[in-house]
Amino acid sequence: MNDHTNQETQHHGEKPVRRREMSRRQFLSYTLGGAGAFMGAGMLVPMVRFAVDPVLQPKAQAEWVKVVEEAQVTNVPKSFKFQVHQVDGWYESNPELEAWIAKSQDGKIFALNPTCKHLGCTVNWNGSPQFKDQYYCPCHGAHYTIDGKALAVSPLPLDEYEVKIENGSVYVGQLGPNKRV
Ligand code: FES
Repeated sequence: MNDHTNQETQHHGEKPVRRREMSRRQFLSYTLGGAGAFMGAGMLVPMVRFAVDPVLQPKAQAEWVKVVEEAQVTNVPKSFKFQVHQVDGWYESNPELEAWIAKSQDGKIFALNPTCKHLGCTVNWNGSPQFKDQYYCPCHGAHYTIDGKALAVSPLPLDEYEVKIENGSVYVGQLGPNKRV
């Protein structure tokens, strides 16, 4: 009997061929491990999605906010405060924003954001006697025309809100780059 085995293992002086067999313990461990990983992934994917979903959503267009009666707007810019509802991921807030609203020569109403495009201070209309009928930033002296065009220090014009008039009221919407200059 052993002759046969010896012939197999010592055939032509080669090394014996060893069959790789899986033990019962290994089989159970692989099977249970695989099933566990599958179930874990099934639970993890919805959880990750739940956590990051709001971040992946495209930013919603800002809602229109009623700011002032049209009749109150003149050729001289005036500051108006208004609140917006913001949703950023899971965080919701109602920050107060400001717009300088004026009527242009052709009678169209426009609204500028007073955040200085140099380093973010707040500009004021006629904020310096040196720069009459301009927006002026007290931080480093940037000044802008009535349309928000940068005249010094700042590399960019003031941002502009979308504006619409409805039933005699001025509404502001999305804030974006200045389209007037
Ligand atoms: S932040 Fe306005 S001039 Fe610098």
